[in-house]
Amino acid sequence: MSRNQDKLQGHAGGEASGMRKGLTSYGDAGFSLFLRKAFIKGAGYSDTALDRPVIGITDTGSGYNPCHGNMPQLLEAVQRGIMLAGGLPVKFPTISLHESFAHPTSMYLRNLMSIDTEEMIRAQPMDAVVLIGGCDKTVPAQLMGAASAGIPAVQLITGSMLTGSHRGERVGACTDCRRYWGRFRAGEIDDDEIGGVNDQLVPSVGTCSVMGTASTMACVAEALGMTVAGGASPPAVTADRMRVAEETGAVAVQMARSHLGIDRILTANAFENAMRVLLAIGGSTNAIVHLTAIAGRLGLQVDLKALDRMGRETPVLVDLKPSGRHYMEDFHAAGGMATLLRELKPLLHLDAMTVTGRTLGEELDRAPAPFSQDVVRPRDNPVYAQGGIAVLQGNLAPGGAIIKQSAADPGLMEHEGRAVVFENAADLAQRVDGDDLDVNADDILVLKNIGPKGAPGMPEAGYIPIPRKLARAGVKDIVRISDGRMSGTAFGTIVLHVVPEAAVGGPLAYVRTGDRIRLSVSRRELTLLVSEQVLARRTQEAPPVPPAAERGYRKLFLATVTQADEGVDFDFLRPPKPVGTIPNT
Ligand code: FES
Ligand code: MG
Repeated sequence: MSRNQDKLQGHAGGEASGMRKGLTSYGDAGFSLFLRKAFIKGAGYSDTALDRPVIGITDTGSGYNPCHGNMPQLLEAVQRGIMLAGGLPVKFPTISLHESFAHPTSMYLRNLMSIDTEEMIRAQPMDAVVLIGGCDKTVPAQLMGAASAGIPAVQLITGSMLTGSHRGERVGACTDCRRYWGRFRAGEIDDDEIGGVNDQLVPSVGTCSVMGTASTMACVAEALGMTVAGGASPPAVTADRMRVAEETGAVAVQMARSHLGIDRILTANAFENAMRVLLAIGGSTNAIVHLTAIAGRLGLQVDLKALDRMGRETPVLVDLKPSGRHYMEDFHAAGGMATLLRELKPLLHLDAMTVTGRTLGEELDRAPAPFSQDVVRPRDNPVYAQGGIAVLQGNLAPGGAIIKQSAADPGLMEHEGRAVVFENAADLAQRVDGDDLDVNADDILVLKNIGPKGAPGMPEAGYIPIPRKLARAGVKDIVRISDGRMSGTAFGTIVLHVVPEAAVGGPLAYVRTGDRIRLSVSRRELTLLVSEQVLARRTQEAPPVPPAAERGYRKLFLATVTQADEGVDFDFLRPPKPVGTIPNT
């Protein structure tokens, strides 16, 4: 038998090639491989090329996604890295999601992208996969999909955008988007100036330049061990980013050869490291939902009370907007994640495995030496003494709620006030700016029906605008409560992710204007000061009617989406039984 025939029948010695993976489609395995090779040879491949480890690369470029606008350069660098390491790169498209161009919300489509990613990894022959993502929902979707697919996988982040300059002031998306828009709404700046700002907020391709969800998920992915060391921080347009891409390609080949599966990296300890990092960076609240969803795919349940305990002993150290002053490119110049992880060392599981085959601790030992910088603070001089996020509970949120305390007004964290209720996003839009709205700065704004099923897709509408008449009077913050999410780039005393949501009959559904609500962040309480009898009567008068749809993805979504405390994943995408908790107790 010639060497060629031998290979075609799948008996060749040497390393396994992904071309042989899952050969069951057409009669015997030999014929399946024969067919598969015949077709891929249509693209001009030789037998020698096809005998290498096959590394799939998800191409998530799209004309609608400037956050992934460096995709062509990244793909080239990843392919170079794979070939230098002796692998065969094969790129393939999956869904791409951009925050601003995913109606009704990118969160509504995150699970769809995760299914696409999982099934394309499963369907196509590959020994390992490079996941290229950046914009908010893409990295979680890819990690969820890859966790379920189970093959060796490595995450490559597209990288942050540069910052712009408006009349001498440095600006970046999208904390400054909100700040300038707030000034425009308050009549402080005119049409011309807001137009000028619009040109400067997103001055290059790449993801938002503050510690929003994209930057948070980049840091979290590195903390999970899912990127190469230093993979979180290089901006999208830099040579550093391209070198990370080349190294990522090489690492994927190594992972394929050593069969380093994703389940050896995404352990309970890795998730605990990621939660520490989330707290220490003052990261986006969205990341809690995403980490819960990724962990859920592996049968691991996040204990929110433990997250809160960790928060009490994990200070915010990274001085980035919206909690602090700097931007992602400054974090990169300050040494990026190595600088932060070194500071957090006593709180981390240093033996957690990473994609390089080295542990987090080993990677830290290899990192460049520390130097003087002012973006990552030492633990004895934090930006904020406690972690960025606190977990609340009480009769208004029996399944929990969260608040990003590092972005809140300290004067409002212990507050009792009168509820001013909006039934849904449309009601809010209609009334919030009216001069006749009965509201004052001590009130608590409540927005219902923006939860996972309510909107649906849990929009980032939890950042309820300050009513115009209060904004004009100079009010900068007010307590706000909803079952929705908030952009990682937003700030304010804002309670989010109330579980259960209003749309499924959570107590939030029965709050009425005039009720009293008490928020105590120090006691971690969110209390509706209305008696159980009154609440029970209101429930009887208007029993909940959960939303449903006639057909299509929306029907699937509404029928199977879980609440925020379970990651807003579809119930059928999680394994039937949990296998452990985070932290690992
Ligand atoms: Fe893509 Fe902000 S819009 S990261
Ligand atoms: Mg965002």
